[in-house]
Amino acid sequence: MTRKLPRRSHARVVRLALFAGAMALLLAACSQPYPYNTLNPAGPVADKQADLFAVVFWIAVAVFVLVEGALVVAMVRFRSRGGREGMDIPKQIHGNTRLEVIWTILPALLLAGVAVPTVGTLFDLADVPEGGLRVNVIGHQWWWEIEYPDLKVITANEVHVPTDRPVNLTLRSNDVIHSFWVPRLAGKQDLVPGRDIELSIQAPTPGTYRGQCAEYCGLSHANMRFRVVAQEPAEFEAWVEQQRTAAPAPAPGTDAAEGLEVFRNPLPQGTGACIACHAVQGVEGAVARVGPDLSHVGGRQTIAAGILPNTEEGLERWLRDPPRAKPGSKMPNYQLSDEQIEALVAYLRSLK
Ligand code: CUA
Repeated sequence: MTRKLPRRSHARVVRLALFAGAMALLLAACSQPYPYNTLNPAGPVADKQADLFAVVFWIAVAVFVLVEGALVVAMVRFRSRGGREGMDIPKQIHGNTRLEVIWTILPALLLAGVAVPTVGTLFDLADVPEGGLRVNVIGHQWWWEIEYPDLKVITANEVHVPTDRPVNLTLRSNDVIHSFWVPRLAGKQDLVPGRDIELSIQAPTPGTYRGQCAEYCGLSHANMRFRVVAQEPAEFEAWVEQQRTAAPAPAPGTDAAEGLEVFRNPLPQGTGACIACHAVQGVEGAVARVGPDLSHVGGRQTIAAGILPNTEEGLERWLRDPPRAKPGSKMPNYQLSDEQIEALVAYLRSLK
């Protein structure tokens, strides 16, 4: 009796498993939602970029199919067949002037065809739209400072914008090169120290658009995330009003009041003070812009540039040991006591 059959079906099972695994990986790319999908553009800037991409992509697909197709035909048709060497050598065309001219001119025409829409789109996108909302985005290792110069608002890691209005960003860096990238709204744009770089975005519908630093900028480059929060114009106005109003001082005797004391005074551990780096509106002396402005930190979706949820647990984890939550963090571990952390968490959450 032969054992061949089981062995063959075993190989089939392995092949099937490999195929299923590969399909699972492939289909994982289709899982919803895709907040970082540049092929799911939103707004006029991203739409123009996606349109240009489509033109170049389909030209490239046509070139790929023609070139690879010719290669496959040549490989199959003129392959070596055992015992018939020399029988299938094709006609040699080395030095054929007409062919040389054709395959020099054709790619040149193709590149010219790609250049026309590319240059047009580049000039189109370089125009700063009139009547746009001015926002300064300042890159820091490893967080984003967001400033509205006309509205006198400063925040961090969340760019609130009204829908259907152009937003003219001025990108700056405080230290090294970063890159502002909100895949659904616009292509990547570097932030270069010593330079002001313009970028316009426009969000068509309310919602949160995810962003990520896209230029390697040190240890926590991957942890330098942000969000563009698009709101209906009226809702955006309300947000601006709230940002311009200092959060009410905590009631005496509460945990939050105790937290304010921890925030304002040198830490008993003798290592520094929160107030030396962070600003909070309405708190005397709290004007530093070394770290994020905390005036309304309680109202943000996340903390630590998008890597921790803005919850009691998230804040506690951050304050317990910042460089552990975010490697390389410029905020050191101050060895805060449980009481200090609890008080600070209550205070920060009160800053709505
Ligand atoms: Cu900032 Cu990478």
